[in-house]
Amino acid sequence: MAETKLVKLKIDDREVEMPAGTLLIEATRRLGIEVPSFCYFPGLSLCAACRMCLVEIEKAPKLQTACTMVVAEGMVVRTNTEQVRNARKYMLEFLLTNHPLDCPVCDKGGECELQDMVFRYGADTSRFVEEKLHRPEEKWSDVVYYDAPRCILCFRCVRVCDEGMDVKALGVGLRGSTSIIIPNGSDHLDCEECGMCIDICPVGALTSGSYRYKTRPWEMQYVPTICTHCSNGCKTTLSIRNHEIIRANNRDLSGINKDFLCVKGRFGFDFTSHKDRIRQPLLRKGDKLYPVSWEEAAQAAAAKLREFHTAMGPEGVGFIGSNRTSNEENYLLQRLARATFGTNNIDHHRTADYTGLITALGDRTADSLLTMEQLYQSKAVLLIGNDATNQNPLVAWQIRSGIRHNGAKLYVLNAKEIKLQRKATQSVIFGSIKESEIIRWLATGEGHFADSLASQLNSLRSALEAESDLAMVFGSGVTGTAIADLVAFGSRLQGKVRYMALGDYANSRGAADMGLLPDRLPGYTYLDNKALTEPLERHWGAVLSAKPGLTAPQMVEAAQTGKLGALYVVGANPFAHFGAPSAGRGQLPVLIVHEMFLTETAQLADVVFPAASAYEKDGTVTNTSGEIQLLRKGAEIMGPRTDFDLLRIMSHQLERLGVGKAFHYKNPAAAFDEIRKFVPGYNVQPAGLLTGGAEPTKLQFSRNGHAPYDVPAELVRSANDTLFTSGSLGRFCTMMQSLPEAEAETKS
Ligand code: SF4
Ligand code: SF4
Ligand code: SF4
Ligand code: FES
Repeated sequence: MAETKLVKLKIDDREVEMPAGTLLIEATRRLGIEVPSFCYFPGLSLCAACRMCLVEIEKAPKLQTACTMVVAEGMVVRTNTEQVRNARKYMLEFLLTNHPLDCPVCDKGGECELQDMVFRYGADTSRFVEEKLHRPEEKWSDVVYYDAPRCILCFRCVRVCDEGMDVKALGVGLRGSTSIIIPNGSDHLDCEECGMCIDICPVGALTSGSYRYKTRPWEMQYVPTICTHCSNGCKTTLSIRNHEIIRANNRDLSGINKDFLCVKGRFGFDFTSHKDRIRQPLLRKGDKLYPVSWEEAAQAAAAKLREFHTAMGPEGVGFIGSNRTSNEENYLLQRLARATFGTNNIDHHRTADYTGLITALGDRTADSLLTMEQLYQSKAVLLIGNDATNQNPLVAWQIRSGIRHNGAKLYVLNAKEIKLQRKATQSVIFGSIKESEIIRWLATGEGHFADSLASQLNSLRSALEAESDLAMVFGSGVTGTAIADLVAFGSRLQGKVRYMALGDYANSRGAADMGLLPDRLPGYTYLDNKALTEPLERHWGAVLSAKPGLTAPQMVEAAQTGKLGALYVVGANPFAHFGAPSAGRGQLPVLIVHEMFLTETAQLADVVFPAASAYEKDGTVTNTSGEIQLLRKGAEIMGPRTDFDLLRIMSHQLERLGVGKAFHYKNPAAAFDEIRKFVPGYNVQPAGLLTGGAEPTKLQFSRNGHAPYDVPAELVRSANDTLFTSGSLGRFCTMMQSLPEAEAETKS
């Protein structure tokens, strides 16, 4: 690696060395010296608009902007001279000429950069006596409001929307002191509603429709946790007042997403307090579900499970888990299925073929899976079969940022046109041909396509062969043998190649890692792998079956045709996704459900337990790139309990009836200790998790002589959520439902 050249300079009488090319403002920050700034924002282009960062540089005739000046050999910089202090004071006075100074009612009061700067560097009087220019506040969308008099024209919003989001929904109108920010729809926004512009605004000029005028920043507690919507695993900080979520943002820029959140992460939290939340256990009596006590519901559920387990044996009971519940909850659920009931009838709605990828990579897995940071650092990205802007917004952000900051190249291979093509070096749109056929052709040259497609694919293959560091990122259409073909193709390339499979929801990867699979134990271990099963059997005091169980669609079919006695569903909606929709639960005798809302499946149940959402529990989740992160409880909703607690309650009830052993985990952390011990790849350092640093699972999968993995294509299915939908949860996000863009998506 080429060594970075260092230059020597003096800042405030300190001799320092900094890498050549470092911006002076960054150099001062590294030394702990504050040079105030408004328009400068790391990662965005430089525009030197606000003049707050002026510093003295020896031999320069006048003050210079530290945000645009790079360090140079022999430079002598002073950041705190009288001239500099006066310049800051006058700039602030100038910025306040039209500013309304309505801090007592402004949303930003208490966390406003302008307020802080005026306290620290401003004058205590103003010489400005003229009438201030006023403009009424504008509502640009349900989530974005603009108050022009508060705007200091730093253009951060315009740049983040253009450069960061590639949406270009904001511009500048009028001139001089009358300049304002204007939206692309002239009086409204037609955009991705991500709220990045609100978040980045240093003052209260852009405010959020869901937060404005609700509270003050010092009245809230701040709880860092992980977004519950898509599989990308953005860190979000929930602002909590009286146990309720008031807003979500990521303003400390930590976590794998740094300053990024999409519309769902920022505004999709009001489902927690939706009026339709189930708050009491429900028990079916005749045609209807009635609220009952926890005791009655738990006893009834345990008795029904026992009855059908006794009558039909282990294979008469099935379990369908969730890709939104935590790792600890998923681990407990598969223990309940395997150890308590002796069945491998356990699965979840699979939205990416993680099993296929990990099997194909075998013992190279640990070094071949991409993290979100590595995706950003990759020199080239091949995106196959996924509209990342809509389905995986952080992945799209990482790709765009890599292109912008590192000159990365993007290759798109997709059935139809997608927005990210605007940034691509080459795109191949292959219409109705299957991804697997295209990949087979890349890997083996087998297959016949129209001349124009064949020539585009030829040129794509040549370009990929020339890349030195390639990220292959693919959606749910690439499964089983197609993944094996892709890995075979990648192995033949000269450069470094790493992979990322894109699933749908917050813990899709964790659900698979924890063994919510009928043919794999936790860590994708084969059912007959004695090295894992024997210690687990000793630990759980149970004999584990080596016979593969039913998949989720097979369980629904068996349920509807009376071949299953009892189905236990945790946070999933299988009767809406699999089987014949009109058949309902068919001839299934017993259906027990943990749910937040009365979904299609919950409505059919005999017992419904009210379940807490991800924002109401502690635990861990694993994002689509295998990074394990901590969930922390933010909101507190009366009634529901975590699935972790519900599974513990159920295990105790069952033990009383002579079925299996009760779970004695004190809390999710105790379950995670066991996961660290027994699940290959999860022996991560707790300190890393506690500091908020995500840690990738170092899975090491050896093929131990089994046949290559393949799955029926219909088993891995994306829900094809968009920026504005999020499965069942999205239906209960009032704020998101109110956006016209969401309505357009639902209709299309
Ligand atoms: S909400 Fe997002 S997409 Fe819309 S204008 Fe703001 S930054 Fe741009
Ligand atoms: S609205 Fe905010 S971010 Fe945009 S230019 Fe004005 S002050 Fe800057
Ligand atoms: S990209 Fe995914 S994880 Fe990140 S904020 Fe959006 S929905 Fe949440
Ligand atoms: S921060 Fe340097 S000019 Fe605005």
